[in-house]
Amino acid sequence: MSVQPSDPAADFASRLLGWYDRAARVLPWRVPPGSVAIPDPYRVWLAEIMLQQTTVAAVAGYFQRFVERWPTVEALAAAADADVMAAWAGLGYYARARNLLACARMVADHYGGCFPDDEAGLRTLPGVGDYTAAAVAAIAFGRVATVVDANIERVIARHRLIEIPLPAAKKAIRAALAPLVPVERPGDFAQALMDLGATICTPRTPACALCPLMSDCRGRTRADLERIPVKPPKKAKPHRHGVAYWIERDGALWLVRRPDKGMLGGMRALPGGAWEDAPPAESGTVSVDHSFTHFDLTLSLVRKDAGDSAGEGEWWPLSALDDAGLPTLYRKLTDKMRKDDA
Ligand code: ADE
Repeated sequence: MSVQPSDPAADFASRLLGWYDRAARVLPWRVPPGSVAIPDPYRVWLAEIMLQQTTVAAVAGYFQRFVERWPTVEALAAAADADVMAAWAGLGYYARARNLLACARMVADHYGGCFPDDEAGLRTLPGVGDYTAAAVAAIAFGRVATVVDANIERVIARHRLIEIPLPAAKKAIRAALAPLVPVERPGDFAQALMDLGATICTPRTPACALCPLMSDCRGRTRADLERIPVKPPKKAKPHRHGVAYWIERDGALWLVRRPDKGMLGGMRALPGGAWEDAPPAESGTVSVDHSFTHFDLTLSLVRKDAGDSAGEGEWWPLSALDDAGLPTLYRKLTDKMRKDDA
């Protein structure tokens, strides 16, 4: 491809990809830039689902454990729901794990184990929205797609000095980015912007001097660059309260499974009451605070007798509690309880 210096879009892509060739992060779902290896769509999809609302550092260990245990989409499709939910424990947003399984099963059962290879096809899969469809189409299948995650949003908003507050800015950011996506290497282009946002154009103290896009960045001289993209005003979060029960017998703890629908759906949990706006009448031995996307929760732990192990559940050996796949909320509570007991 001959790069016309007068073509600003090609120049942008060429500077960005040149930087990526030198500085790409080595990540387990990636093929290195310039490699002839073809990325595995299963690994690309799995990483994109895991990376939603989470950092690369938080995902790395989970990704490795998943692909070791379930190396193909067929293997994941054949997994027991409870095993996948337990392996996901700690990553949060558990509806994503349920969709992950539904998606793997659809790809295995209806697509012969091959992911659809364009955005429209990918979007028909459970849990695959506009962002994931664009990212997988570009990274795994080399399709030209406009991929916008939070890192890319920041890079483009600053480069183009888009000062409209989010979420309204999204439209302008997408419109600015779309014409810049090169026909060659669209997947590397997207990942290069992600890496630039994660390592150079960081939320605070961006390292502009090292940025391959500095020369024509409209934001670079702004003292208040960290303000861009402009965040929407923070909404006050409601605060809820709940009680969980510690029911112990012969070195085992009574665990239940949360209903499939709703918060932490399908996850193993301590039994307990509904989460309410008012503090509970029962006061617990220990309590933890936990922040969900739409509310904060204070959960107190109350000891109960073994006779209270009503309904469906299982006695889980306390010595193996780490393997129960409890979501972080309950992990925090049981860790605190055991520390207090020690
Ligand atoms: N964040 C989301 N997707 C990513 C990817 N493919 N590489 C690096 N960071 C990411």
